[in-house]
Amino acid sequence: MKICIIGTGYVGLSAGVSLAHIGHEVVCIDSNAEKINNLKRGIIPIFEPKMADLINANKDKISFSTNLSEVTEDFDVYYIAVGTPTIDNKVDTSQVIKTAQEIVENIKKYTVIINKSTVPIGFNKELKKSLQNKTNIEFDIVSNPEFLKQGSAIDDFLNPERIVIGSSSKKAIELVEKIYAPIIKEKNQLIITDENSAELSKYACNSFLALKISYMNEIAKLCEKTGADIENIKKVMASDSRIGAKFLNAGLGFGGSCFPKDTKAIVSIAKENNAELKTIESTIQINSAQIDYFIQKILAFYNNDIKNKTFALWGIAFKPNTNDTREAPSLKLIEKLKLLGANIIAYDSKAKTELIEQKANIEDTIQNANALIIATEWDEFKNFDLKKLTKLKDRVIFDGRNIYINKNLKEYDLKYICIGKNEQ
Ligand code: UDX
Repeated sequence: MKICIIGTGYVGLSAGVSLAHIGHEVVCIDSNAEKINNLKRGIIPIFEPKMADLINANKDKISFSTNLSEVTEDFDVYYIAVGTPTIDNKVDTSQVIKTAQEIVENIKKYTVIINKSTVPIGFNKELKKSLQNKTNIEFDIVSNPEFLKQGSAIDDFLNPERIVIGSSSKKAIELVEKIYAPIIKEKNQLIITDENSAELSKYACNSFLALKISYMNEIAKLCEKTGADIENIKKVMASDSRIGAKFLNAGLGFGGSCFPKDTKAIVSIAKENNAELKTIESTIQINSAQIDYFIQKILAFYNNDIKNKTFALWGIAFKPNTNDTREAPSLKLIEKLKLLGANIIAYDSKAKTELIEQKANIEDTIQNANALIIATEWDEFKNFDLKKLTKLKDRVIFDGRNIYINKNLKEYDLKYICIGKNEQ
């Protein structure tokens, strides 16, 4: 099928590359000329495993452009994957509206517009209504929320746990099913719903996962007060299939481009509809207090004075296997520690920040440091030779991701302060 994708952020680019990989002819469009020029030369704007290899392997099926009007093909399907930022707790859908309008003005035959951008409930139906007078040609707008995770975006797209198609048009549903046919292994992977349910399902999933994280962070605090160990609690909870084994890691809380934005958006959507989402309101509150909670632990160790102390900080990215720093807990941590007068020397093999000095070599961070702070659970940190950490002047590790929680650091005469288990 001939597919045009507008927006080459995480979602659009992963979709474009993956759809080309399963045999479709794809044109990716983005108004950012620098990004498109780079993509044409094989330079990928983000670090994402498998992305570069797949673009290379499918060069004949994927092309890039800055403008819809430059593209002359007759597409069967358009994907919208542009940003929907939350501004003042409200979802800004202006880019989606503008893009949909451009598409509708361009179409020459029956066309399906698939919206992957996360939008408020009822938006896609309204959008179709509002664009109907712009063309005489029949078109449908389908809500097809994206559930891929950064760091495993390509694998998630090609091996989806489910594909949600929100539409009331039989014709559109059949066409979307055809697009995804090569990656559908079982019938129940496809979930057909109305537009509004598809839209809400995306918010409901992300908010529930965020809720799980805040819940674990609260239980972790209770562990510290009662002398229990969050790792043991996690093991017991994970063995219950009703709870599920994933997203049970206590730590510095959630960041990234989705959870913080979507939790705020769903709360405001609920309010607009005279409904309440107390669980998600609490989820947000707990998450935003988590960095302060962690800093209190550092301050307690240093009798409330960390002025001129030097911290090695490992991990800038909001999670491992990505170079994305949007809403990264590490950045909030750095800002607050700096305000308290601390020096920070950071390391992350992929993510960068202007806020502080960063070393290219992990070992250079610990040479003159008083203590180590871990903000992201990269494998490189998990596999680090712990003996080398004895170089830390104060022999203490503040682990915001609990990566060494099961290690015996006493063996190296290192103090270990984490989340959800008292100091060892
Ligand atoms: C998320 C959703 O998982 C995905 O389905 C959606 O399409 C986009 O948003 P992403 O933001 O890429 O994906 O990252 P994810 O792996 O979900 O992690 C989100 C945040 O939660 C990260 O900051 C991570 O560190 C944190 N997290 C995750 C925890 O603190 N504990 C956990 O147990 C899991």
